[in-house]
Amino acid sequence: MSSEASPPTADAPSARWLEIQPQGWRLPLPPGLSLLEAAQQAGVRLARSCRNGTCRACRCQLLAGEVRYRVEWPGISAEERAEGLILPCVAEPLGDVRIEAPAAQKL
Ligand code: FES
Repeated sequence: MSSEASPPTADAPSARWLEIQPQGWRLPLPPGLSLLEAAQQAGVRLARSCRNGTCRACRCQLLAGEVRYRVEWPGISAEERAEGLILPCVAEPLGDVRIEAPAAQKL
């Protein structure tokens, strides 16, 4: 495991973080970006296709934290939400977030 993707803004008081497991990468969460966009900006590629919350290719497990969706009807069921599954392409963080995304890759 490595935290080499951590940015130089670690001491910013309002910084939010996205932690990706099992890799253990810790990435900054700039305001206004989805989890997918923030990961990409930090040089990490998450599984994706449509990027608008319909195809479900990006679906992954939320391990900690909370998100809100930028679309009214993301393609994820109430049961899946209850299980902690999220769609990072349209999910914006409400604080620090930890997800499980084994297929994530460094760009
Ligand atoms: S990339 Fe299609 S739902 Fe997220």
